[in-house]
Amino acid sequence: MEKMLIEGGRPLKGTVTVSGAKNAALPAIAACLLTGGWHSIKDVPRLKDIQTIKSIMTKMGVIFKEEDGVLRINSDEIKEHVAPYDLVRTMRASILLLGPLVARLGRASISMPGGCAIGARPVDLHLKALAAMGVEMFLDKGYINAKVDNLRGADIFFDIPTVTGTENIMMAAVGAKGKTVLRNSAKEPEVSDLARMLRSMGARIEGDGTDTIVIEGNQDLHPAEGHTLVPDRIESGTFMIASAITGGEIMIDGCRYEHLASVIEKLQAAGARIEKREKGLFVAGPRVIQSVDIETMPFPGFPTDLQAQFMALMCVANGSSIIRETVFENRFIHVSELKRMGADISIHGNQAIVRGRDHLLAAPVMATDLRASASLILAGLEARGGTTEVRRVYHLDRGYEALEKKFQSLGARIWRVPG
Ligand code: UD1
Repeated sequence: MEKMLIEGGRPLKGTVTVSGAKNAALPAIAACLLTGGWHSIKDVPRLKDIQTIKSIMTKMGVIFKEEDGVLRINSDEIKEHVAPYDLVRTMRASILLLGPLVARLGRASISMPGGCAIGARPVDLHLKALAAMGVEMFLDKGYINAKVDNLRGADIFFDIPTVTGTENIMMAAVGAKGKTVLRNSAKEPEVSDLARMLRSMGARIEGDGTDTIVIEGNQDLHPAEGHTLVPDRIESGTFMIASAITGGEIMIDGCRYEHLASVIEKLQAAGARIEKREKGLFVAGPRVIQSVDIETMPFPGFPTDLQAQFMALMCVANGSSIIRETVFENRFIHVSELKRMGADISIHGNQAIVRGRDHLLAAPVMATDLRASASLILAGLEARGGTTEVRRVYHLDRGYEALEKKFQSLGARIWRVPG
């Protein structure tokens, strides 16, 4: 196992480039199951989660090649339609294979994702939608076995706008006979990125980015050629908060204003100076961070995937802030670790009250999930009084590409060491 050592208290300075979005890469790679031939995707980040989906698909017979930063994927032959427990348990997003497999083969067997550190996270809405499209499913030995001979379009209403649910059903609908209408669908930029890729493969999709998506299924599909993934807005937001918490001045290349409007508004209220530049955003941290309340929401609201990082910022703000988590239950597990660094936080149901203090204190802490680990790194970059040790950084490697190297290039004192 590895850990991160951080000596905090240095303002970040310089330019950093954001990688392609993990949450766009996963559905894009899954979408290559829809039709044979060589697909190519650009800007795929090197992450553990990407490795996991590649491993599952390799077992199915899919071939991956990487050339000059382009991932080439061939699914001419799908020998198996099983996503095994050992791999699915490490990444819930493996459920994204269900839609395209059902569309291509009319068969799929996916290990049922279990609970995870940030809550129960059911997949009932994915399954309900597939059932409406004529898919028969039964649970056997922990696997969702799906079978359909005549996949048909349907009018589907999602009780909650689900991101991977919308993506999964969009992919299934591409292979279905007739029209599918998805209502109350997720509006996240990663959903639109998948729609853009599917359109480049010949699919007919309209309305992505709104809450009603219409898919005209059963078109002739061809491989996606050179699909360039949207930049990672969560990585961008993490760097923005890092600049704010260290009083830094950094340029974030690839950071898209329109994908982070809610975060920008909150960071400005906290005192950060943010300027739109040709290649991305410039973020200067304030001398004194002001406290701001946030509430997580589906896009375009404040993303739950940046809640933990924003909380680290509020730990050193002037005054108290209220942070409400409305998307996932149990998404405050970073709180007890932040408290080890001197943070003053109390939790009341889905609300955390954070009372700011001058500085955090360096301490050994343990990462518990992907975004929680990012918040501990940010806390470490601010902390005074020695070296912060963040253990279990494998959580971080699921979703951030070479994060310590990027922070080092901005002048941070951060090292990855065994232990
Ligand atoms: C995706 C993102 C994740 C992000 C989340 C919310 C990927 C790979 N992951 O996760 O990083 O934190 O969106 O922005 O893109 N729900 C149900 N039943 C379902 C599906 C979802 O009740 O069948 C609920 C969830 O428990 C949660 C809410 O809907 O409360 C939203 O979850 P969802 O958008 O599905 O999250 P993911 O797609 O798993």
